[in-house]
Amino acid sequence: MDVAAFLKSITQPLGQLEAYRQADLQARVERYLNDLQSGLQAVYPQAEAVAERVAQVIGQNLAQRPAELLALDLKRVHAPDWFQQPHMHGYIAYADRFAGNLKGVAEHIPYLKELGIRYLHLMPLLLPREGENDGGYAVADYRRVRPDLGSMDDLEALCTQLRQEGISLCLDLVLNHVAREHPWAEAARKGDLHYRGYFYIFPDRTLPDAFERSLPEVFPDFAPGNFTWDDELKGWVWTTFHSWQWDVNWSNPEVFLEYLDLILWLANKGVEVFRLDAIAFTWKRMGTPCQNQPEVHALTQALRAAVRIAAPAVAFKAEAIVAPEDLIAYLGTGAHYGKVSELAYHNTLMVQIWSSLASRDTRLFTQALRRFPQKPPSTAWATYLRCHDDIGWAISDTDAAAVGLSGPAHRRFLSEFYKGDFPGSFARGMHFQENPATGDRRTSGSTASLAGLETALASGNPRLIHLALERILLAHAVFIGYGEGIPLIYMGDELGLLNDYDYVQDPAHKDDNRWLHRPKMDWAKAEKRHQEGTIEHRLFHGIKRLLEARARTPQLHAAFPTEALWQPNPHLLVLKRAHPMGTLVQVYNFSEQDQPLPWETLRTEGIVQPYDRIEETIAPAYLRPYARLWLVQPPLEGKL
Ligand code: GLC
Repeated sequence: MDVAAFLKSITQPLGQLEAYRQADLQARVERYLNDLQSGLQAVYPQAEAVAERVAQVIGQNLAQRPAELLALDLKRVHAPDWFQQPHMHGYIAYADRFAGNLKGVAEHIPYLKELGIRYLHLMPLLLPREGENDGGYAVADYRRVRPDLGSMDDLEALCTQLRQEGISLCLDLVLNHVAREHPWAEAARKGDLHYRGYFYIFPDRTLPDAFERSLPEVFPDFAPGNFTWDDELKGWVWTTFHSWQWDVNWSNPEVFLEYLDLILWLANKGVEVFRLDAIAFTWKRMGTPCQNQPEVHALTQALRAAVRIAAPAVAFKAEAIVAPEDLIAYLGTGAHYGKVSELAYHNTLMVQIWSSLASRDTRLFTQALRRFPQKPPSTAWATYLRCHDDIGWAISDTDAAAVGLSGPAHRRFLSEFYKGDFPGSFARGMHFQENPATGDRRTSGSTASLAGLETALASGNPRLIHLALERILLAHAVFIGYGEGIPLIYMGDELGLLNDYDYVQDPAHKDDNRWLHRPKMDWAKAEKRHQEGTIEHRLFHGIKRLLEARARTPQLHAAFPTEALWQPNPHLLVLKRAHPMGTLVQVYNFSEQDQPLPWETLRTEGIVQPYDRIEETIAPAYLRPYARLWLVQPPLEGKL
């Protein structure tokens, strides 16, 4: 299809357009049609016909896009770096656990604003299957909100309120699978051939067995194997996660068109960022682990190009918890450079923060960051310390060996340390999905409990409590200050919420210990943030201070790269951000002892009178335990 034909199709449902709007749409099509078509051509033999249908889906949704969101589209076109700016701070929460329901979330907007939040990721809230549903990641209807949380109108109203307060809403788009109870799956179970084509269904074990030879297991404990026999289907259906989460077949263009329509429909309600859940798994290829296949990126490129034409205010965030060399492709490499997701999770940064807190040694951290691929400047990482999932100890054997460690031994150490089993460990957590076949053991637990607050409180020792709080603040400073993306605060961490051992009381949760770190918000504790001397006050204001410092530090714009510097002290992590407005050097002390400032390194970077942007004062001569400094050289006249 050429630009004129595509434009004609998308504008058809819009009627007569004024010249400006027509020119605007034409500019978008000219810019993105090629990305769309090359993405489609890489996966669908009938790409031309699919493109025509894409144009229709865009046109229908454009016709429904509210004026306020068209205005947002325009704003974003003029501020394409909106998600990269140093004031973009994110918060992750379950709507019900945070505030009961969507109306409750709206009532707590002032709390989010007080902390400095500009981006809110509300965990799955679309209608899931009943009973077990993987925390909402088994969606039965993408066009309905979970009734206990509210209605689609409530969601739309919440988006509007958030937008008016300068907060962007991020929602999960679960695009690798649907619930067994989703209408597509129901139709397939009834024998509808059209919908059977939405899934991978095999009559016997021949192909499943062949695929299994190279497939890993995501939940070896409670959902072993990747295929499930279904009596109604009379076949084996692909189920990477649980037996009731059916993988959809993206090699069928109908699936592409369904999800495109869904994204645009939700975008018209006001959703601004889509978290592309489990995106790594969306293309299958015999003889491979069926993750990170090249087609995944071609499809994302096509999807994004269509969304850029229809709703340029929208951004994608890839949830791909994969090795760095695979991860970088989700922000764009090769032909897809800068053409796929705007955001992706920086899993390595998260793992390395925990690793250095346990070992009090930063050499592996520095090594891993230095070997980490550079992202396209127009993209950003989502940086974080905790989220609703377990921590997988993704330490690369190559990096470990480079600093004289054994990868498997260090991974074993970390899982033991964070369970609290390792002698001297400050942590309290649980093993998640222990896999005897691979030796893999992941970890569940809340930030505060993993960082030692639970054991410190049990000991009643004020020094241990102090150290635990400093550790939590150090960890936050690292991912908030990292600078290549949006830092995401996980609900409750700003107050030090501990592990929630009550999860076992709920039959739908008891077998999944990730609920250990999915507590309910404790608003009585939140009130204590106003009382000086409380844990809540120290953490809330400590984190708020970091966010405020970040917002006023231009060096933390995500377009600029971060470099980890080697220096002789193994307890210090030193990160450099070169910037036209002056270099920023961050120094983090990962030990419980005082450490000298790394003068030599600072001098090499032109910082001789280090000034700390967090405290807005001249840096102290030495670093206290777990100290964090964001240092610049003030200009001679002393003005920053
Ligand atoms: C993502 C989610 C995780 C879920 C999985 C399957 O990894 O973060 O919670 O279990 O996808 O949807």
